[in-house]
Amino acid sequence: MPRSGALCPQRFMSFSLVVLSWSQWRTRSLNPCLEVIPGTVYRCMELNLSGIPSDIPNSTESLDLSFNPLKILTSNYFSQVPALRFLDLTRCHIWKIEDNAFMGLCNLSVLILTANPLHILDPWAFQDLTSLQRLIVVESHISRLDRLPIGHLTTLQELNLSNNHIDSLRLPEYFSQLIVLQLLNLQANKISSIFVGDLDALPSQNVTLVLSKNYIKYIELNSFSGVYFQELSLRGCFESSALMQASLQNLTGLHVNHLVLGDYRNIARLETFNKPLLDGLCHVRLQEITLIQISVLYTTDSLSDCLHNIPSVRLVSTDIKEVTPFPKNSSIRQLEFKNCKLRGVPADSLSSLKELRVLRITKNPRYLMRYVEDFQGLQNLETLDLSENTLIVNIYWSSFMEEVPNLKHLNLSFNSKVALPPECSGVSKLEYLDLQQTRLGFTGALPSFLCLGNLIYLDISHSSTHIVTECSFCGLDNLRVLKMAGSSFEGNQLAGNFKNLTKLQILDISSCQLKHIVPSALAQLHDLRELNISHNKLLSLDPKVYVHLHALTILDLHSNQLAALTAQALEDLPTSLKYLDLSWNLFDCSCDHLIFFRWATNHQDILKHADFMVCHSPLDLKDVRLVSFDLSSCHVSKTTVAASVTTLLVLVLFAILVYKYYFHLYYMVVLLSRDHHSTEKEHTYDAFVIYSSEDQEWVTKELEETLEVGVPRFRLCLYYRDFVPGVSIITNIIKEGFQSSRKVIAVVSTHFLESRWCNFELEVAQSWQLLDSKASLVLVVLEGVDKAVVRRKLGVFRYLRRNTYLVWRDRELTRHVFLRQLKSALLDGKTWTEEELKLMLNN
Ligand SMILES: *[C@@H]1O[C@H](CO)[C@@H](O)[C@H](O)[C@H]1NC(C)=O
Ligand SMILES: *[C@@H]1O[C@H](CO)[C@@H](O)[C@H](O)[C@H]1NC(C)=O
Ligand SMILES: *[C@@H]1O[C@H](CO)[C@@H](O)[C@H](O)[C@H]1NC(C)=O
Ligand SMILES: *[C@@H]1O[C@H](CO)[C@@H](O)[C@H](O)[C@H]1NC(C)=O
Ligand SMILES: *[C@@H]1O[C@H](CO)[C@@H](O)[C@H](O)[C@H]1NC(C)=O
Ligand SMILES: *[C@@H]1O[C@H](CO)[C@@H](O)[C@H](O)[C@H]1NC(C)=O
Ligand SMILES: *[C@@H]1O[C@H](CO)[C@@H](O)[C@H](O)[C@H]1NC(C)=O
Ligand SMILES: *[C@@H]1O[C@H](CO)[C@@H](O)[C@H](O)[C@H]1NC(C)=O
Ligand SMILES: *[C@@H]1O[C@H](CO)[C@@H](O)[C@H](O)[C@H]1NC(C)=O
Ligand SMILES: *[C@@H]1O[C@H](CO)[C@@H](O)[C@H](O)[C@H]1NC(C)=O
Repeated sequence: MPRSGALCPQRFMSFSLVVLSWSQWRTRSLNPCLEVIPGTVYRCMELNLSGIPSDIPNSTESLDLSFNPLKILTSNYFSQVPALRFLDLTRCHIWKIEDNAFMGLCNLSVLILTANPLHILDPWAFQDLTSLQRLIVVESHISRLDRLPIGHLTTLQELNLSNNHIDSLRLPEYFSQLIVLQLLNLQANKISSIFVGDLDALPSQNVTLVLSKNYIKYIELNSFSGVYFQELSLRGCFESSALMQASLQNLTGLHVNHLVLGDYRNIARLETFNKPLLDGLCHVRLQEITLIQISVLYTTDSLSDCLHNIPSVRLVSTDIKEVTPFPKNSSIRQLEFKNCKLRGVPADSLSSLKELRVLRITKNPRYLMRYVEDFQGLQNLETLDLSENTLIVNIYWSSFMEEVPNLKHLNLSFNSKVALPPECSGVSKLEYLDLQQTRLGFTGALPSFLCLGNLIYLDISHSSTHIVTECSFCGLDNLRVLKMAGSSFEGNQLAGNFKNLTKLQILDISSCQLKHIVPSALAQLHDLRELNISHNKLLSLDPKVYVHLHALTILDLHSNQLAALTAQALEDLPTSLKYLDLSWNLFDCSCDHLIFFRWATNHQDILKHADFMVCHSPLDLKDVRLVSFDLSSCHVSKTTVAASVTTLLVLVLFAILVYKYYFHLYYMVVLLSRDHHSTEKEHTYDAFVIYSSEDQEWVTKELEETLEVGVPRFRLCLYYRDFVPGVSIITNIIKEGFQSSRKVIAVVSTHFLESRWCNFELEVAQSWQLLDSKASLVLVVLEGVDKAVVRRKLGVFRYLRRNTYLVWRDRELTRHVFLRQLKSALLDGKTWTEEELKLMLNN
């Protein structure tokens, strides 16, 4: 179809325009909503609807009715769409929800009631929502939790009540029934005081409570005693540093996995940050604390000693410039500085953190440039993440292994420059090394990874690496993942660089400007599962590159310059392949690649982004989708080819036949064009003798010398004597022979029967007889001739009465008889000229 589309685009386009506008008119007139997924997903935003459009099908699972003036949800309001899973009623002016409004929506999982002035919620308003997991009632004038009739929603996991007017944290009794509740969001309400007993109804220890942006002035001592939270967020809750300090003191007895404290960028209320500020946390059981957006926090010296009891400390978006030495007895295991203002890696100050397992200093792009490696004593450090800074680092593996001997993860991605001098001794425990988007020195020209024998994962994508030496990856005996997109190879050719990476499972060599891959380049990678060669300049790909990759499931070849895959290349694709991306190549859609097109059409299950496999050439098919390419157009020309081949064969055969039967044809032409007068004309000869040249002697002696000298005298037509020179032999046979002679004498000898020419003459004579009723044939059969053959040759002609059948034997008596019979046969029908009569009388 696209092929014909390409051939007559004008018509195709106007047709599709008609279809398009018709379907638009249709949806507009019948259904004002946007049909995102027909039958399932409808978007009816801002259409001034006062109810559900009548033609929303009952199979609809997702319905967006936001910004319509629905005002009141009466009972059975949604009975038309019982299959709903997602319902968005944002800003629908709903002020009242009556009993059973959501009746029948037993599959509804997400209900959004944001920005409605919900004044009246009838007691059974949310009846029947037996699958509801997320209820979002943000900014909806809710002032009391106990007025929310949601106690029966036992499947509820998330309750978002932020930006309402709730002024008390006292959880109503019904909360104890919400046993799977995970998130209670009370952000930006009006809770200012928290009392003992407020959280008694908390259903589980796994709830995340967001109290951020409530102006908390008072927390009764022990309000949180014995309370467990997954996470507690108290950002922007305290009007001053002093109030925060006092409030935290009253959190005594709280258990929380993750506590978030701090301000917001635009609401910074903490005016100072001093050491005692967080002292209250000494009485809180914490796994992790995040101090976020605190612009008055400049040095780690002002952090409370209590923090050193917390396993994980995160400092995010603070103004920390200085890291002072941490106390020796600190039990921090994970420390993160993210988006702070550190100017150097504070390796020295951190050396005391004997328990430290994970250190992340990330996203300080404008500040962090210095890296003085002096990580003395971080014996337990396993993960060092220094990504997204502006570091310039020299990594000497030997000293690195001494400082942080147990390091397994090193992330130096998105930095300025990392140099990896090849010097090395021993084997590092490093397993993951991420250097992407960081300019690398040495790598490519020298073996930089010699002592990383345990490395599993290496990412050097977009690190300006130019691979020159075959030994660039020497030493990486256990490497399973190698990502090096955006690198380049000497001569834009991939050769033996990966030979020893026999355990490799994932290889990304996209955007490497590769023009050629040597067939044996990947031959050793028997475990390879994913191979990404996209965004290169491959014009072709030798199937030998992948034929041995028996574990390969993903092969990405998109954005190359392949014209097609050959039949061999298709056959050699590993059977394990599940994902093949050939999009954005320069496909040649000429019929030479018919096998490929057919293969592509039949393998759309593994072909990814097949919609972007488009023809590049020939010009008239440019941008036609390959999988919808009309294969039959190739069949047509195939039949044309077949037809022309057949025609040619017929012509050749015809030519051969013409060549072989030239005489027959010529004879037929002459016969058909002969004029009847010529047959009537005077016969010049009494008989035309046809014979084999081998029998010339016999003819001369027995016919010429007996018939032409005796009385009556006969005139014979003998080819060697009577044929007109310079005229074609066939013309002579017909004109001089048959047409000018009354009779034909055929001298049948063994030679005669063997000669094709004589046989032809005999056939002509016989057909001549058929045309000319008077013509007669005298057959002279010589000695030694197989009679049976003669009979077969003559067929029915032997029995014609006007024919004479004579047998010649070389004996005096029989010769005499023969001569008499011959003469009388020739005499039959002879008319004598006067001259001849005179001559005879004289004799
Ligand atoms: C919305 O519909 C009501 C009637 O249902 C009509 O009065 C009002 O003008 C409409 N508003 C807009 C903006 O079309
Ligand atoms: C949905 O509507 C169709 C007719 O439009 C009806 O046949 C079918 O029973 C309805 N399904 C439900 C679940 O109501
Ligand atoms: C609810 O979902 C279940 C399972 O997906 C389905 O079988 C059932 O028909 C749905 N109920 C309605 C009213 O659509
Ligand atoms: C819940 O409320 C918070 C605070 O207003 C908001 O940031 C968040 O996106 C809301 N969640 C959903 C699912 O609407
Ligand atoms: C606890 O809550 C988290 C999300 O906050 C959830 O992923 C986890 O499954 C919950 N655990 C239990 C035991 O409910
Ligand atoms: C902490 O609790 C004590 C004792 O109940 C109380 O006097 C004090 O005001 C509380 N502090 C704050 C900030 O609520
Ligand atoms: C660490 O030692 C200091 C004294 O040097 C002491 O005050 C503090 O309580 C200790 N902290 C821990 C977590 O042991
Ligand atoms: C390294 O850090 C970058 C940026 O933060 C991140 O995207 C990447 O996943 C990290 N690498 C590893 C191996 O964790
Ligand atoms: C591959 O390994 C062999 C022996 O393990 C070693 O001799 C050879 O130099 C290595 N070649 C490369 C290119 O790493
Ligand atoms: C291959 O790499 C390209 C560019 O780096 C990326 O867009 C694509 O998603 C990768 N393919 C697979 C299968 O991961």
